[in-house]
Amino acid sequence: MSTIVAKHPSSYRDPSGFIFEKEGAIYRQVNTIFREHFDHFINSGCYRELTQKGLLVSHEVVNENFNDGEIGYCTLKPEKINFISYPYEWSFDMLKDAALLTLQLVRESVPFGIILKDAIPYNIQWHEGKLIFNANCSGCHGSYGNEGKYPNLLIPENIIATDSLLLKYYSSNNGYEDWYNKSWYATAYKPAYSKPQFGYVAQPLDGIWITAPYFHNGSVPTIDAVLNSKIRPRYWKRNFDKQEYDYKNPGWKYKTLRNPGGKKTYNTDIPGYGNYGHYFGDHLTDPERKAVIEYLKTL
Ligand code: HEC
Repeated sequence: MSTIVAKHPSSYRDPSGFIFEKEGAIYRQVNTIFREHFDHFINSGCYRELTQKGLLVSHEVVNENFNDGEIGYCTLKPEKINFISYPYEWSFDMLKDAALLTLQLVRESVPFGIILKDAIPYNIQWHEGKLIFNANCSGCHGSYGNEGKYPNLLIPENIIATDSLLLKYYSSNNGYEDWYNKSWYATAYKPAYSKPQFGYVAQPLDGIWITAPYFHNGSVPTIDAVLNSKIRPRYWKRNFDKQEYDYKNPGWKYKTLRNPGGKKTYNTDIPGYGNYGHYFGDHLTDPERKAVIEYLKTL
C-alpha cells in the first residue's frame, strides 16, 4: 500500500531526493532523476567500503514507496543516530575531525568514480563513538562488525610506552624460550615457537567492557582511565569480598589510597606494575571519550 507522506520541512533543496518522517522513523526518498548515480554508488562497491570503514551511516532499502509519486526511485531507512549534535556545538578538535573526515570521504570515493555533492559539516555526526574510534584507535585495534578487520599488530615498546618489565623478562635469557621451543607446542601438528618480541600486541577489543583491570599488568581499573592517563590512580584497591563492577563506566569500582597500603592494594610504583603509557586517548575531549566508551560497550 502506498501513502503520501510530507517532506521534512528542512529537506527542500535537493532535487535528487528528500527526507521524511513516518511513525517516528526517518526515511530518505531517492528520486528517479538520481537513479543512475545512486545505482553506481551501490554497484561500484563505494557504499560498502564507506560503511564498512564507519565513514558513512548505513541504510536498508525499504520496498514500499510511501510517496505514491512517479518521481520516487527507492526509499531508504538509514541506521538511527540517537544523539544529534550540530557544528556550532562542537569543540575545535571535533571540527578538525569533521574536516579531515570530509577529505577522507573524497579520497576514498574518487577511485570509485565518485565525489561529494556537497561537503557541509551538517552532513557529519558523531555516531556512538565509532567515528572517533575509527580515527584514533582502529589503526591498531582493528574495526568491528560485519567483515571487521583485526590487524594483529605488535606495537614497539617506545610507542606503546607501557611498563616494559614483562616484555624485557620474556625477551631476556630466562629459560622460557628454550622450554617452549622444546615442548610439545613446537612438535604438534601446526607447531608454534616462542621468540622475543619488543612490544605488546594491540588486542581485539571485543567484550572489553567486562575484562577490567586493563593493560598486560592489570594496572588500570577502568576504561576511562585507559583513555585518560591523568586520572589513573597510583594506589588503588577494589573490594575482594564482593564483586563490585561498574557497568556504566566499565571497570572495577575502586578506592584511591594516599599511601601504598597492603597486599590488596595495587601499587603502581612497584617495577612491573606501572600504569603509564598508551596515551592515545589523552587528546580527546570528555564527551569524545564518553562516546568512544559507549561504542566500546557495543563490541
Ligand atoms: C599505536 C597503537 C594503539 C593505538 C593508536 C591505540 N591502542 Fe589501545 N592498546 C594498544 C596496545 C599495544 C595495548 C596493550 C598495552 C599493554 O597491555 O601494555 C592497548 C591496550 C588497550 C586497552 C586495554 C586492553 C586490555 O585488555 O587490557 C584498551 C581498552 C585500549 N587499548 C583502547 C584503545 C582505544 C579506545 C584507543 C583509541 C582512543 C586506542 N586503544 C588506541 C595499542 C594502541
